[in-house]
Amino acid sequence: MKDRPGKTIKTGFGDKPARPSIDHYRCTSCGLCARVCKSFTILAVNGSPEIFPDNGLGCIGCGQCMLVCPRGAITVSGRGIEPEHSFRLPKKSVRASFGALYNLLVSRRSVREFRDRPIEKAMIEKILSAASTAPMGLPPSDVGVIAVMSKERVWELAGDICGVFKKWLIFDNPVMRALAVFFMKKTDAEMMEGFIIPAVRAITEARSENTDLLFYHAPCVLLFHQSPYADPVDGSIACTYAMTAAEAIGLGSCMIGTVSFAINREKRLKKKWGIPQENSVSMAMILGYPAFRYSRGIHRSFASVRYL
Ligand SMILES: Cc1cc2nc3c(=O)[nH]c(=O)nc-3n(C[C@H](O)[C@H](O)[C@H](O)COP(=O)(O)O)c2cc1C
Ligand code: SF4
Ligand code: SF4
Repeated sequence: MKDRPGKTIKTGFGDKPARPSIDHYRCTSCGLCARVCKSFTILAVNGSPEIFPDNGLGCIGCGQCMLVCPRGAITVSGRGIEPEHSFRLPKKSVRASFGALYNLLVSRRSVREFRDRPIEKAMIEKILSAASTAPMGLPPSDVGVIAVMSKERVWELAGDICGVFKKWLIFDNPVMRALAVFFMKKTDAEMMEGFIIPAVRAITEARSENTDLLFYHAPCVLLFHQSPYADPVDGSIACTYAMTAAEAIGLGSCMIGTVSFAINREKRLKKKWGIPQENSVSMAMILGYPAFRYSRGIHRSFASVRYL
């Protein structure tokens, strides 16, 4: 075994590997830790697990070895993970059945009408504790969240985004539209002409009449942002989990897609709203107590499913 610290993949947590440690007195050589370690930091040598800090990708701190070990013989420390983060899984009897989960999922709607009631911080903490369980491209999570906690501040954020939208509209003229046909993919040009420009125009015009068509006067906005080392979908996956958690505690939510394009290009806005310059916002989510409940669900299906 080589001396520590060994190597790893650089992320927002830095370039230091996590440190797995094996208690060989407890170990029964079942081999599970070596099987789950796809960084190949733990290998079975003559049936016994050994740590090779310089092998494979190096320890990324995913914790899989610590969590799979039936004897509690492995600890992993560093890079945002500590032994005390592991816990006993809930008993099967208290886990959601498929039916219970399905009923929750079909009950969720994108909510854009809210009661005039702020969201308590405890509710956000609950939602984020659930959302932080989301899978991520490269653990530990490199996703950050900005919680904008009042209607007034949400209105202010909407105003800042509308300022960016107005700049975009300068390019909405016959010359630029003609150029777009040559320089953009056909579907991108179609989306620009048929969706983005009309939507941005409607949002900015509504704002001049004190109507918020971007965040719908929600009392809270969560911005999910991630480091450049994270997978670009990490924040959006976390946001999806957050929406499901919100539904479970009786709150309404909706993803708001265009915000990320507007913020990510504006250093000034990133600074003002606390997003690290190197990070990018992947998704915004509005949140609030729904003004009313939907009476019915809807059967949906994927555009296509093929079994090969
Ligand atoms: C990636 C993504 C971006 C979205 N962006 C917006 C948005 O900017 N504004 C909005 O009102 N709804 C937005 N939505 C919500 C969708 O319009 C909504 O999911 C869709 O209408 C289906 O409704 P449901 O969620 O109630 O099933 C977005 C949804 C997704 C998945
Ligand atoms: S999972 Fe635990 S018991 Fe099994 S080989 Fe690894 S350290 Fe030993
Ligand atoms: S934490 Fe993950 S990468 Fe590190 S040794 Fe354990 S399984 Fe391998």
